[in-house]
Amino acid sequence: MIGSGPAGFYAAGHLLKDASERIEVDMIERLPTPWGLVRSGVAPDHPKIKSVTRVYEKTAAHPRFRYFGNVCFGEHVTREDLLSRYHAIVYATGSPLDRPLGIPGEHLRGSHAATEFVGWYNGHPDHSGLEVDLVSAERAVVIGNGNVAIDVARMLMLSADELAPTDTADHALEVLAHSRVREVLVVGRRGPAQAAFTNPELLELDELTDADVLVDSDELERALAVHDEAAEQDATARRNVEILRRYAEHEPTDDRKRIVLRFLLSPVALHAGDDGALAAVELVRNELVPDETGALRARATDEHETIPAGLVFRAIGYRGEPLPGVSFDERAATILNERGRVLDPDSRAPLPGEYVVGWIKRGPSGVIGTNKKDAQETVDAILADLRPSANGDRADGDRAGAGAPHIPSDPDAGAVEALLRERQPQLVTYSGWEAIDRHERALGEQGGRPRVKLTEIEQMLQIAASETP
Ligand SMILES: NC(=O)c1ccc[n+]([C@@H]2O[C@H](COP(=O)([O-])OP(=O)(O)OC[C@H]3O[C@@H](n4cnc5c(N)ncnc54)[C@H](OP(=O)(O)O)[C@@H]3O)[C@@H](O)[C@H]2O)c1
Repeated sequence: MIGSGPAGFYAAGHLLKDASERIEVDMIERLPTPWGLVRSGVAPDHPKIKSVTRVYEKTAAHPRFRYFGNVCFGEHVTREDLLSRYHAIVYATGSPLDRPLGIPGEHLRGSHAATEFVGWYNGHPDHSGLEVDLVSAERAVVIGNGNVAIDVARMLMLSADELAPTDTADHALEVLAHSRVREVLVVGRRGPAQAAFTNPELLELDELTDADVLVDSDELERALAVHDEAAEQDATARRNVEILRRYAEHEPTDDRKRIVLRFLLSPVALHAGDDGALAAVELVRNELVPDETGALRARATDEHETIPAGLVFRAIGYRGEPLPGVSFDERAATILNERGRVLDPDSRAPLPGEYVVGWIKRGPSGVIGTNKKDAQETVDAILADLRPSANGDRADGDRAGAGAPHIPSDPDAGAVEALLRERQPQLVTYSGWEAIDRHERALGEQGGRPRVKLTEIEQMLQIAASETP
């Protein structure tokens, strides 16, 4: 298993549960710490969502499971190394990159990808050094209408008291405590009925201690005037519209911060001020038009609006990253696969012994639980390919889609560990991670927080090494 987020852990759990094969699972993770986006993506004020790690801890405690952290696929170990040692490789690397807007000024100081901001407040070592200036700007614009956009808006508006009992990284707590941001605009290119956020996340905006949530009723009704049959049939979209109509009745309060939800607007340029940093966002008004499938798309009009803002966060989705030597679909930014079996890019036939789960399989959509079913589909394919039936067919009865069994030349579990340790002497085992976990929790306990996250790899390695038996 390459990657230790929800998809990787669900796949590991399904494989270990299989009673007919005594499958052993090794998990290789680039960071010393496991859990992927549960640790570095889920907002710190959502501890209940994070408690899903208890399920993964049970999987990790299985005697046929091993964790090899701080090992990078493509650097310390290659696809070929693994194919010669394992019956199956399962790629579970998620979608770590951001999607660019492709507009002028996107890289100005003050313009950030939500992926890096989320990583920053969650203490991801790749993003701990991000410079986020919350002092120079009073208005921030969040582009996108998904749950990440909502998370970013909420995190910017949470009060110090609301943040205090969370595991927000210390560096972010410090910056957020001095924030002068008073207004966050969340900008959707389509209307409220087409928004991707979900009901609980939208409702939660109205529970903030320090901020009002506002919606311009004219803008809301203009967007809703265009009939959307698909949204009419969708309970989440209908409920979102109800909630937003209620928010449109809110009166702004002068002395409170605010989150303002705007619709039918796309950014066309980010403009710099005299100091060279972001000073304004230029938006174009969109209209909703059906495409050939009947789905409503945003089409730009010639009406523009420029809004002064010192911060922009683009929250328009994540993007998968190719892995060295692994078949990749550039257009979808996923590993080329059919229902979890990795495909040869030329012949489109399944490549023996290679599988994929999670966002890098299907794209960056769905909640944590979506990965459970997704992983089951891939594990079913692995098990079917491992067990040819008596007449030579695969056991899943799915001849057309079935892959060939892959027989490694050197499937020695002890030798694999020796190889990994040789390539990465600072390999972190599961007990190394448990030491980090204990350390972080103990630090957190002193301040009434679930944990204080270590945000630098070196610190993590020291703790893992000092406490590993
Ligand atoms: N609390 C939670 O459960 C939680 C928290 C965070 C994330 N998640 C999940 O993680 C997944 C990823 O979330 P996400 O928010 O990154 O992605 P998402 O749900 O796919 O939303 C992306 C948003 O960006 C918009 N967008 C895309 N390209 C754009 C462009 N060029 N200009 C303007 N807007 C653009 C999309 O609008 P269109 O619809 O018009 O394309 C959509 O509103 C989702 O499944 C989400 O539910 C869940």
